[in-house]
Amino acid sequence: MDIHSLTFASRFDGISGSAIREIFKLLAVPGMISFAGGNPAASALPDIQMAEIAKELLLDKGKILLQYGATEGYAPLRESLVPYLKNRFSFDCKADEILPVTGSTQAMDLLCKALINPGDKVVVENPTFLGNMQCIKLYQAQLVPVDSDEDGIKVDELEEVFKKERPKMLYVIPTFQNPTGRTLSLARRKKIAELASQYGVIIAEDDPYRDLRYAGDELPSIKSFDTEGWVAFMGSFSKVISPGLRVGFLCANPTLLRKCTIGKQSSDVHTANLNQAIVDAYLRRNLLMPHVNEICKNYAEQLNTMLGLLAKCGGVARYTRPQGGLFIFAELQEGMDSVKLLNKAVEKGVAYVPGTYFYAQGGHENTFRLNFSMSTIDEIERGMGILNEVFSEAIG
Ligand SMILES: Cc1ncc(COP(=O)(O)O)c(C=O)c1O
Repeated sequence: MDIHSLTFASRFDGISGSAIREIFKLLAVPGMISFAGGNPAASALPDIQMAEIAKELLLDKGKILLQYGATEGYAPLRESLVPYLKNRFSFDCKADEILPVTGSTQAMDLLCKALINPGDKVVVENPTFLGNMQCIKLYQAQLVPVDSDEDGIKVDELEEVFKKERPKMLYVIPTFQNPTGRTLSLARRKKIAELASQYGVIIAEDDPYRDLRYAGDELPSIKSFDTEGWVAFMGSFSKVISPGLRVGFLCANPTLLRKCTIGKQSSDVHTANLNQAIVDAYLRRNLLMPHVNEICKNYAEQLNTMLGLLAKCGGVARYTRPQGGLFIFAELQEGMDSVKLLNKAVEKGVAYVPGTYFYAQGGHENTFRLNFSMSTIDEIERGMGILNEVFSEAIG
């Protein structure tokens, strides 16, 4: 039989992901200034510290860490996440209500596995994180986009959608959102928790950027206003320690968490013990916040440099001014097309991500996302200079 006769599961219908993967390949092109990724800076990865911790852990508990572990996770990590969640996200959660996962990407996958039947409706912010939109689509859910403004997703529209569409889940990134960098206001956080229990909608709250704050005041999580267990909280150490470790966590009501744990058994049995133990040691030794404070100094400078240059960039009509996170979202003048202009920018040595990919129904071709964490100040200056040239020329 010819291998080309192979057919694939219908869940892949309409899913390509190729456009953005091509852009990410540009990260590896020598000399390319990339404003496209969402990775931490190389200087923000604590490699030496991690080497010491890993060596100590292996010498001390190697026989345990190198053995199979529990799907429920490495017990010391679950325990050290309890005070971390209380201090950083303002909610109480018992150790057995926390499931360590292989990056918060897996938390989203498990929530969908546990909850979504083909045709179910899932509300997403418009625009939102492409990776999790793809995950929701793979479970054959119908995406229902709701617009956002400076204060995050519009809750009046959200309530209308909850009433009319009866969705199963809302996926929301409340702090320094990807791609916009915006933060959901306190009032809207409270309102979303209320709407969840009023309409019986699970809120998948995804908050990997919260510790990367350069200005303004911290806000409590949506989960902190949840009294009945409708909010499932997804956290990650990818942006603050290391994405390569693949350690995140999911906090959810016990019945939902149990389903996710069963779902995880057939995904990867458990998240790597050594990696969970490394993150646990990082938390127990109080290394996280000093590290975060250190990296935030550089990120703040990079963000401010990019914002300053955007203000002078030809063709740019408006842009977000995030207080943290890794992204700025910008809009070119009406009629300009950031997808077409990307080729010219890349030819001259700069990459970004066109905003259209972050919208559930596409469109918005005049928008684009910029990342500043992976570029030095000099690269930001040169890269923004190139974008100024490319966009100014396109105005005509
Ligand atoms: C909003 C958001 N959620 C989740 C993730 C993925 O995190 P993890 O590395 O923990 O899977 C990202 C990564 O870019 C993200 O931007």
